[in-house]
Parts: sequence; structure tokens; C-alpha cells
Amino acid sequence: MPPLRARIFALLDPASQGLAASRIRRLEVLLILIGIASVSAGTVDAVAPAARAAAAVITGIVAVAFFAEYLLRLWVAPEMPHPHAATERRSRLRWMLSPEGVIDLFAVIPAVAAVSGGVRLGAESASVFVLLWVLKLATHAPGVKMIARVFHNERSPLAATAAVFAIVLFSAATITHWLEGERQPEAFGSIPSALWWAMVTLTTTGYGDVVPQTALGRVIGGVVMLCGIAVLALLAGILATGFAEELRRREFVRIWDLVARVPFFSEVGAIAISDIVGRLRSRSYPAGATVIQEGETGDSMFFIVTGEVQVRLGPRMKALRDGDFFGEMALLDRKPRSADVVTVTPCTVLVLNVADFYQLAGQQPALVAAIETEAKRRRAEDRAAGCS
Ligand code: CMP
Repeated sequence: MPPLRARIFALLDPASQGLAASRIRRLEVLLILIGIASVSAGTVDAVAPAARAAAAVITGIVAVAFFAEYLLRLWVAPEMPHPHAATERRSRLRWMLSPEGVIDLFAVIPAVAAVSGGVRLGAESASVFVLLWVLKLATHAPGVKMIARVFHNERSPLAATAAVFAIVLFSAATITHWLEGERQPEAFGSIPSALWWAMVTLTTTGYGDVVPQTALGRVIGGVVMLCGIAVLALLAGILATGFAEELRRREFVRIWDLVARVPFFSEVGAIAISDIVGRLRSRSYPAGATVIQEGETGDSMFFIVTGEVQVRLGPRMKALRDGDFFGEMALLDRKPRSADVVTVTPCTVLVLNVADFYQLAGQQPALVAAIETEAKRRRAEDRAAGCS
């Protein structure tokens, strides 16, 4: 059994997949939400004093829990895998300076402030805790890292859009300053003050607190509004394609990883594998699930990554395990499914649909020939047993 520190690290590591680790993550999110709710309740005047006092106690408990969690994470930090051997002190320092470490430190500030008497928990001043704790949610949301990655990947088109935005913003502010400066010296008397109108108009917010009064000023206003719509559309397009690309890339890596575990694909070269990976989807089934029903039309075949299934051929049963495939006969023979296939244990499978199967047959004939040979053997076996 691994030492206690390693076991606690495995429970607290955001990358851990286990049930206990995911329960702890959920518990932490719940704690953050309870903390935010109790601090928020403390700021509502209509809440009864007794309820406010209870909220303050809950806020205190949450603050102490975050403090304990911080100390625990600091203790287990040396367990973090790192390419270079580092001393325990250095590993802890590295974790403290990491984004997660800094955010966790912020979440600890309320408890430290309360203990040192700087802040009275439950008071109006505690509302600042919401800001500190809400940051902690970012370390638990799985998509936050992906958003950061998309912004990083798309930094040059985003910078180009920001440049266009700045050009239009400053040009609009300068021109309206010339046109409107004399009539409305308060709003357009200087370029910095005209920037407020330009920003509100360019972002299509349009508060309406400052409005150009000259005819030319209004024409400029219209042009700035149109530019604003164009810039926002450009930003939305860049980010949407960035997200789609990133999701596709992640899915590719995940499927690649699964394909590598199926020995059937091991003899195929890297280029062919990348062609196959793009056509496969992963699916998980619990134990006892019917994956294929006899007599159904077959629209896909399956490769088992992990788990065991049972092929039910009347009274005869055949077990298939990691690395085996099934569901190929209906695709090859263009006939209904010849048997029921039911999972015995939880299974992860890779699914190849019929259209991709035939395309693959054209591009990877050796692979499909190997599937065909096995199907022939199975058919002969079933015929001999009088099953089909
Ligand atoms: P299909 O007919 O599409 O659906 C049922 C699947 O069970 C079939 O494809 C095969 O993949 C599988 N199967 C049928 N007979 C056997 C066998 N004798 N051994 C292993 N698998 C089989």
C-alpha cells in the first residue's frame, strides 16, 4: 500500500479519475457554494439576526475547512510528479507559486484574517470572501484550462482583432472630439473623455448618456456601431473555431490512447493509425448492458478496449475481451445482427460506423481483410454449431 501522503495526494489531485477523488472534488465545490451562499446571506438586511448569526458560523467553518485543505495540499505537494528531482521544500514552493496554489492561498485569507482579529466573520466586510472563494471554483471547473488554452492558441487573430478595435476606438474618439467638442465640452472636450462614448458605442452597449448632436457626428456614430458589430462577430468566430479545434484535438489524443491499447491496430503504421483514429468514437457501457440485439440492422462494429462481453448464440455463449472486436458480420454480410452481445463487466469500446468501415476498406485493405478472416472463422464455427 502506498504511504499515507501519496494516498492523500491521489485523492486531492485534480487529474485523479477514481470515485473517491471525484467525490472529494464534488464535496469541495459544495463547500465553496455553501461558503458563498452563507456570506451572501449575511449581507441581506431582511434576513433575521438569528439566521445571520448561523450564516456567520457556517462562513467560519468553511473558512477553517479551506485553511485545513491548504495545509494538506502543501503537505502533499512533494508527491506531484515532476521531470526533475526536487527537494520537498522546492516542490512545496513550486505548488505555492502555481496558479492553483495562489488561488488556494487567496481562499485562506478569510480564515487568517479572522484568526488574527482583522476581520469579524459574518460582518459586511466578509463579502470580500465571496470574491476570494469564487476564484476557487475556477480550479474545479474542467473547462477553465481549456478556455485558457484556446485564448493562447488563438492569440494572434485575437491580437489582430484587438488592434482593429483600438484603431476604430481611437479614431472615433478623435473625430467626434473635433466634431462635437465645442457643442458638448463635457462629453467630447478631450480625446480621453470622448473615449467613453466611443467605447460604449463600439461595444454596442449604447447607454445613451452621451449622444453626438451634429449630423456628421451621428454619421460617425453609425459607422462605429457597424464596426462594433463586425468586431464582435469576428471575436465570436475566432473563439468558436478555436474551441472546436481544441475539442477535436483533445478527442483525437484520447482516442489515439485507446487505439494504442487494442492489439489489433498495433501493426498499422502511424499515418494509417491517424486515419483510423479520426473515424473512431469511444463509448462506455455498464455491466449487463445490451450492446447488440439479434435481428437488428447493423450500423457499426466495436473494438473492446477494456472489459468483457458475451456473445449469445442461442444456448451457446462466447466471451470476448480486451482487444477483440464484434459486430463486423452485419457490416460485411449486409444482414441483420446474428447474435445478442451483452457486457459482462463495465466496458469501454471503440465504435466504427458503417460508412467509415467501407471507406476504411478502400484505404486500409489489410486491416479489413484481417476482420474478414476472423468473421469467416466465426461464421464457420457458428454453422458447425448449428447457430446460423
Ligand atoms: P453481428 O452479426 O454484426 O452481431 C453479432 C456479433 O456477434 C457478430 O456480428 C460477431 O461479431 C459476433 N459473433 C458471432 N458469432 C461469433 C463467434 N462464434 N465468436 C465470436 N463472436 C461471434
